[in-house]
Amino acid sequence: MSHTITIANQKGGVGKTTTTINLATGLAAADKRVLIIDFDPQANASTGLGLTKQKRVMNIYGILVGHYTVSQALVKTLIPGLSIIPSAIDLLGAEIELVDMKERESCLKEIIAPYKSMFDYILIDCPPSMGLLTLNAMVASDSVLIPLQCEYYALEGLSYLLGSIQKIKKNFNQKLDLFGVILTMFDRRSSLCQMVAEDVKKFLGDKVFQTAVPRNTKVSEAPSHGKPVLIYDLKCPGSKAYMAIARELLTRDANRIQAA
Ligand SMILES: Nc1ncnc2c1ncn2[C@@H]1O[C@H](COP(=O)(O)OP(=O)(O)O)[C@@H](O)[C@H]1O
Ligand SMILES: [Mg+2]
Repeated sequence: MSHTITIANQKGGVGKTTTTINLATGLAAADKRVLIIDFDPQANASTGLGLTKQKRVMNIYGILVGHYTVSQALVKTLIPGLSIIPSAIDLLGAEIELVDMKERESCLKEIIAPYKSMFDYILIDCPPSMGLLTLNAMVASDSVLIPLQCEYYALEGLSYLLGSIQKIKKNFNQKLDLFGVILTMFDRRSSLCQMVAEDVKKFLGDKVFQTAVPRNTKVSEAPSHGKPVLIYDLKCPGSKAYMAIARELLTRDANRIQAA
């Protein structure tokens, strides 16, 4: 059964794109068929996977405005089993153009519906805002995964995001669920980091993934080489964490399906 997951947090720089790329790579390494939809106009997931400008000519914006289809814009990455629909800066305009459309919140859902059965996992990398793009991603998804950086205002941001998910569930997508929270750029030596992590766990219990992603230079270097860190340096702590997170996701997903 295909599972579509929105990777969201209205805050920028918390590890959404890094998590999307590396979780997708980990799932593909486990023989899953995976699609990333780069839904951020900044197109960091596309460049982080080494897509040249030429490979980004057909992108999610062109699909949204009806210039071509998903199958025309789909690009295979260097990782077997992992494809991506690239993004482009034009997507910025979509936030405004979609406003006048009928059923503007379900454009992405309609677009990907015929392709869902081709993939085990579809991961949607969102921009750092709760605008129309993120709304479209959540309406098109079964669940939401939140990368969270353990810093001072993290819990307030998290409450706001959970409130938004509840509103979207109520008004547009009854099946939408919080799949989990992944702690990113975790620094074990920082007492603030530890404290925030404890608070998040008290608040959300086992929704918090057991594996946290440590702050690791290799993780930040990998995108400039156009590779997931799992390919750039498989043995570094960041890669080990993302492999463990992919395994955890598969286990959680199996339990989720059993419970449904
Ligand atoms: N575990 C990590 N260790 C070190 N740097 C990281 C880690 N995760 C992300 N980064 C870096 O932090 C920055 C923001 O991450 P990114 O995934 O782009 O966040 P977002 O998509 O939420 O804006 C990037 O430069 C990225 O390379
Ligand atoms: Mg990003």
